Amino acid sequence: MSKPVPVHAPMDQFETKDQQILVGGKNLDTIEAIIDKSVFYAYDKKIVQAQIDKFNQAIPDAIKLHYAIKANPYPPLVNVMCDWVEGFDVASQKEMLIALQSGMPVKDISFAGPAKQENELKSAICAGVTLHVESELELSRAMEIGQKVGILPIIAFRVNPAFELKASGMKMGGGPKQFGIDEERLFEILPTLDYSKMQFRGFHIFWGSQNLKQEAIIDAHNNTFELAQRLLDVTPVDVETVNLGGGFGIPYFPGETRLDLAPIGDNLASLLSQYPNLAQLELIIELGRFIVAEAGIYVSKITDKKVSRGHTYLMTNGGLHHHLSNSGNFGQVIRKNYPVAIGNKMNLDKGVEAVTAVGPLCTPLDTLADKMMLSDPQIGDWLVVFQSGAYGPTASPQDFLGHPHVVEVLL
Ligand SMILES: Cc1ncc(COP(=O)(O)O)c(C=O)c1O
Repeated sequence: MSKPVPVHAPMDQFETKDQQILVGGKNLDTIEAIIDKSVFYAYDKKIVQAQIDKFNQAIPDAIKLHYAIKANPYPPLVNVMCDWVEGFDVASQKEMLIALQSGMPVKDISFAGPAKQENELKSAICAGVTLHVESELELSRAMEIGQKVGILPIIAFRVNPAFELKASGMKMGGGPKQFGIDEERLFEILPTLDYSKMQFRGFHIFWGSQNLKQEAIIDAHNNTFELAQRLLDVTPVDVETVNLGGGFGIPYFPGETRLDLAPIGDNLASLLSQYPNLAQLELIIELGRFIVAEAGIYVSKITDKKVSRGHTYLMTNGGLHHHLSNSGNFGQVIRKNYPVAIGNKMNLDKGVEAVTAVGPLCTPLDTLADKMMLSDPQIGDWLVVFQSGAYGPTASPQDFLGHPHVVEVLL
């Protein structure tokens, strides 16, 4: 018996009407008319809210949700999210300014990332943002800068745990890593630090990203609570907060399915009763793509259609310079297709043909969809790439070959 061909998870988060995909209730022709652009990212607020609701329904109230702005720093999006999540994590001074100007209280903004420069440390200290310190030298620099400017730096330690995230996804803890301070070393230094030179807040235990296996996340949470309790035991001052990491993935490729948050939430509830000391602290889960990726589509227009030795190519006015991750060149080993559809021929099953959609760059890497079955694709139709609300324009080489930058719109 032959194995079933893996398919994409259904992209049913967007409404459709008369075969048109709707973003914030508007079809793509209307959005084009409003923004006067025929290649764009469109984000649907309601879908962002729905993702946050999914989190809130499954995860115990004692655990707060923070948004990692790196996933999508588009200011209108960050601004609306200010009322929907309980904090922001930033990875640069620019992201820090976006977070500060959104209205999020500064006590709920944290700054993580290796190789922070002295000017970034100073900005964060002067702003009153929590620094997730990633090395011992970074800690000394922060304390020195704090003394110079007369402000106690607010410090949490990013921990490189000894455990590793199991299963697929991006591992960002365990083994040698550029992120955080190894847990073994923290156990040595925590009892001896001069806490009078900082306002100590706690720990940031971040182990990975884009994981779609409930069991792997549950396992990481078990390890995180166990490690956090041991860190608490050797810390001679009060600990206010523990960031438990993030890692919730979304389905991009054929065969992947959406995470079931219920068992993750149940396990967190039982960890909270197993570790009453930790349950009293501010506990945070920090997510980027889970919150925003499902809510975004990348839209371009088909401008030519040609056949080369029997295979049909759609040429579009969008490409990898706008959406590197969809081209397969942002961390994937083998290129796989994101879910793609013709945005004005949704649910149409006639005229379906196998096509390859490409952009205007002179490289075979500039592929938006490779040998995909699309419904009657014609010149003038809209090519829609789903799961594009995270790591889009800001994770793409927009100046490559000098084509225009892409615009974004939140609806
Ligand atoms: C410290 C930290 N927080 C959050 C994230 C966001 O990850 P994701 O968008 O997969 O949730 C990352 C990703 O690199 C990260 O390094």
